[in-house]
This record gives sequence, structure tokens and C-alpha cells, in this order.
Amino acid sequence: MEIRIQPVDPAKRHPKPADETKLVFGRVFSDHMFMMDWREDQGWQDARIVPYDDLQLDPAAMVLHYGQGIFEGLKAYRWHDGTIHLFRPEKNWERFNRSALRMCMPEIDLAMQFKAVENLLSIDQDWVPHSVGSSLYIRPTMIASEAHLGVRPASEYLYYVITGPVAAYYAEGFNPVKIYVSDEFVRAVRGGVGEAKTMANYASSLFAAEYAKKKGFTQVLWLDAVERRFVEEVGTMNIFFRIHDELVTPALSGSILSGITRDSVIHLAKHWGITVRERSIDIHEVIDAVKSGAIKEMFGTGTAAVVSPVGSISFKEESYTVQDGGVGEWSQKFYDEIVGIQYGEKPDKFGWVYDVKM
Ligand SMILES: Cc1ncc(COP(=O)(O)O)c(C=O)c1O
Repeated sequence: MEIRIQPVDPAKRHPKPADETKLVFGRVFSDHMFMMDWREDQGWQDARIVPYDDLQLDPAAMVLHYGQGIFEGLKAYRWHDGTIHLFRPEKNWERFNRSALRMCMPEIDLAMQFKAVENLLSIDQDWVPHSVGSSLYIRPTMIASEAHLGVRPASEYLYYVITGPVAAYYAEGFNPVKIYVSDEFVRAVRGGVGEAKTMANYASSLFAAEYAKKKGFTQVLWLDAVERRFVEEVGTMNIFFRIHDELVTPALSGSILSGITRDSVIHLAKHWGITVRERSIDIHEVIDAVKSGAIKEMFGTGTAAVVSPVGSISFKEESYTVQDGGVGEWSQKFYDEIVGIQYGEKPDKFGWVYDVKM
């Protein structure tokens, strides 16, 4: 499918941020967006790149009532030589299609997802920041656009991709987080939509996250919804433990998002000869192992921060410091390796880097 291009009126360009090292995440957007529509009888049509603007949606658009919406999150990195690269983007496209399937939405073939993002990056290439650590965040989104009240899958969808520059997550070095174990509120339930990147999962996380924040914690550690015992995720990240010298992470149980950073950490660990166990982890085992020192490190993983070390964990009104509350050796090593590959400073041994054609 050809992509129609309508460039922004130069007078209406978004102002470029004065200091790209001080950008607040998700506030500044590039000049253009990619869009295309899906109708039951026609499939995907009218691919276009247009100036970033408000969406025109009927107030009865089904996404606004029944939450049929999915998205992805990935970044474009500018290397020292000026070239632009993505990190394992096909994993995002595949996950997008798995989310679509789960939410009864149409899939988009991988080549079209590549083409949409590549063309958008080409037209907005000036928006990819130059300073090391900063990047252009890419947010592919699909929403049910059909105007209809009544619960069933929509027959019309809008797919769009917006982008915006973001600063390095750790401008002043790693900042170990204080996490709060939520045994009252849950994020997702097995059989539900936890492994889809759909809007409802984020809405359902807000109450516990606000509660934790008010109590002085940075993130919520989510437990399974049935027994409230098994660790699932931390905030909007996957979670890892270094127990003695093994790397342990919850197995993908059906309610956990399959993170691309998670997969990369597992891959690297195995490559480095570390034993990796994907299994159930009881919160009581975690607390005992923190107390005994068997847990040497705990960290979250995700596209935004790559690795986020956990400094302390609070469970049933008691707080426990993880080792000395600082940054563990493995956390640093995984972070350095992945960021090194993303910015072309370390060899891409696994073919994870995608060179964007301009
Ligand atoms: C709920 C949730 N878990 C985990 C992750 C980490 O996934 P990834 O490493 O692909 O960014 C994310 C972020 O996308 C998320 O939203």
C-alpha cells in the first residue's frame, strides 16, 4: 500500500525543545503522524502521513466506551555517526498483533508496520535527539473508531503512530526505587488481558500506584490475582531477581506482559553462562531471601528505563532493604550491554539492531 504524504505547514511546526536532555517523558511530539483506517469490508486503507493534530472521533466511538484499544512503545536511537536505529522492532510488531488478536481487533502485517514507522521517521528525522541516552519514543496505537453503543467488536478501526523526543531516563545516574507490594489490588488476572498491551491494564493499575505513591513508594510490585502470593510485574516493568548466582524471573503465566527488554536480559544472561529460571516466585520466598541476603539484586526491565534497580521492598507494613540498597553488578552489566547495543557502541551479536533507511 502506498503512503500518501501531507507535510506540515512550516508555520505550524512544533517548537523544538530547547534542551533535549531535560525533556519530560511524553509531553513533546514530533510534527507528523502516520494514520490508516480499517473497515470490515475493505481491510486496511488510506495509509497517510499527516501533520500531528487532534483526532476526529464520534463521541460514540467504541474505544471511548468499551476500551477496545492497544498500543506499543519503542524507541529510535541516533548513533554518533548520525544514523538512526531501532531495537528489535519486529518484537513490538508481533506483540502488537498478539494484543490485537486478544482484543478482537485486526492485525497489521509486519512489513506494513515497518513501513509506517520507517516513513514517519524519515520525514521527522530531525526530531531524533542527538545527545547520548536521549531517543525518539514511538507509540503505535489502534483504537475502535466505529460509532456504536453496544458491546461487541467494532467494525472500524484507526491505527496511528505518533512520536516524541525523550531524555535519557537516568540523567543523573541510576536511582534505585522503593517498591510497595500490593496484596489488595491486582493488575491483571490469568485468563484476562494482562498479556495484551491494552489500555485497561494501565487504567486498572492507577489506584494502587497512587496509593503507593502517597505512602512514599515509587512502584507497585504486583502479585497474582488468585492467591495474591506469586510475583508478576513491578509498575509497568517485568521483574528479575538475582538469587545467589541465578537469575530468576516470573514465568509468563498469562497475566504478565512479555517484555522485549525481559527477553533481551534472559538472552544475554544465557549467553554469559548465567543460569536463568523462569518460574513462580512466592512473595514470602522473596522477603525471606532479601532478609537472608540470598537475593543479591532485584530490578525491573522495560523500554523506558531499560533496567531499574530496586533498593527496597515493603510488604505488610515492613520495609526491607535489598542488599545495601544500591545498584547491583548484574543490573549495571545488563544496562550497559543493552544501551551499548542500542547506541551502536557495543557489537550487535544477536542481530537486534534495525538500521532505519532514510
Ligand atoms: C505492563 C508492562 N510490563 C512490562 C513492560 C516492559 O516491556 P518492554 O521491555 O517490551 O518495554 C511494559 C512496557 O512496555 C509494560 O507496560
